[in-house]
Amino acid sequence: MNLNIVILAAGMGKRMNSKLPKVLHQIGSKPILQHVLLVAKQLKPAKLIIVYGHGGELVKSTINNAYVGNNFIWVKQSEQLGTGHALKEALPYLDKTGATLILYGDVPFISFLTLERMLNKYEQNIVMLTMTIDNPAGYGRIVRDTYGEIMQIIEQNDADHTQQLIKEVNTGFYILPNRYLHSWIAQLSNANQQQEYYLTDIVQFAYLANIAIAWVAVENVYEALGVNNKLQLEELERFHQSHQATKLLELGVTLKDKLRIEIRGQVTAGSDCCIDVNCILEGKIVLGNNVTIGAGTILKNVTIYDGANIKPYSIIEDAIIGASCQIGPFARIRPGTDLQAAVHVGNFVEIKNSTIAQGSKVNHLTYIGDAEIGSGVNVGAGSVTCNYDGENKWKTIIKNNVFIGSGTMMVAPVVIGDNSFIGAGSTITKDVPENELTVARAKQTTILGWVKRNKKGD
Ligand code: UD1
Ligand code: MG
Repeated sequence: MNLNIVILAAGMGKRMNSKLPKVLHQIGSKPILQHVLLVAKQLKPAKLIIVYGHGGELVKSTINNAYVGNNFIWVKQSEQLGTGHALKEALPYLDKTGATLILYGDVPFISFLTLERMLNKYEQNIVMLTMTIDNPAGYGRIVRDTYGEIMQIIEQNDADHTQQLIKEVNTGFYILPNRYLHSWIAQLSNANQQQEYYLTDIVQFAYLANIAIAWVAVENVYEALGVNNKLQLEELERFHQSHQATKLLELGVTLKDKLRIEIRGQVTAGSDCCIDVNCILEGKIVLGNNVTIGAGTILKNVTIYDGANIKPYSIIEDAIIGASCQIGPFARIRPGTDLQAAVHVGNFVEIKNSTIAQGSKVNHLTYIGDAEIGSGVNVGAGSVTCNYDGENKWKTIIKNNVFIGSGTMMVAPVVIGDNSFIGAGSTITKDVPENELTVARAKQTTILGWVKRNKKGD
């Protein structure tokens, strides 16, 4: 079937109390509208039209940047005169035949399966998505005839007392046959309580013209919930997080508490991975087998190989952690870091844009930036690669099996040869030869009698 999709996203979102357009607020680190586009694109529509209004240019540029190369049709609705008016603005872009599915830029979790169930019921008719809820306040009520057929949708403000008791409501999702749309939209009037052009009125037009109105009941209410304020934003974020955590558990990952993990991207994991509480996983995260992630750890775009152990409160971004590495607690691994197998990085160590080969250790209070470290190296506590001269960044190269004594300053650019030793407290400004001990610090002297001469009261 020739499918068009129209996403209504022009609402102002006044209740968000924000300068950011409502549909750009994020859930799971992605704009709400992007969640809708993800499912819309899965349906492979012939046309995908987004009706936008408030904060238009920002909405357009944000979404176009996220989906480079996609030809969404952007239609501006300058004044928000109602859902019917919004579809009217999109009308010139719709195909003459086939059907149009209506989605909402602020209802992010409508699922592919539900939309597929709706599409399966489409036969040149209207297909509505309905739900039955205990508190129907605010929703359009579904009015059925004596045969149980849907005949009308009455908005909350226009419903009489008996109609207000109806608990079956309109979710706002429909599939509509294109060939009737022009005449239906032309018939809409705004003679109602809200003085809006209600898209919902077309249901009655179809009923009166004997066009069947089929329906699908939504199975999970969250699919039809929209975001109008920060409370609903938080509720849907929690729904999303619980869904993501469940997926990880189903994958076989051990989570100590599925309510205390935040997943803001895509996570894949091998077997026997374990994630402790209060971790945030962002972007693309790939975990091998037997990876352990300690409490309070933040990972962003990270690949971690088999058997690695990330101890609590470590922050790792755009990095590769090799098999059996031991990281943290309190380690900070910054972009461009590539650690090979069995590297140990301890507490209060920062590593940026550096590679460290197999089995090397940087265990305490150290900064490694723009460095290339070989295998079997031990970097003592409190050492620093001095990579920045105020203008440029320079490289430190430490070859294999080097011992760097504690408190060593390595002023880059500098190369430290294989098997060399550096005495603690050295400031290394020149290349260090291999196999030798190098010490670069002022000689210790003792000034005899100084204390006695200078101590007050003597
Ligand atoms: C609408 C339905 C109601 C349904 C409810 C489900 C109508 C008349 N009523 O009511 O039956 O139960 O959704 O949530 O359709 N929008 C535009 N341009 C406009 C007006 C709205 O793009 O001029 C967009 C909004 O951004 C929003 C959506 O359409 O995403 C729904 O609009 P809203 O005013 O919230 O409709 P409701 O009153 O909730
Ligand atoms: Mg409204």
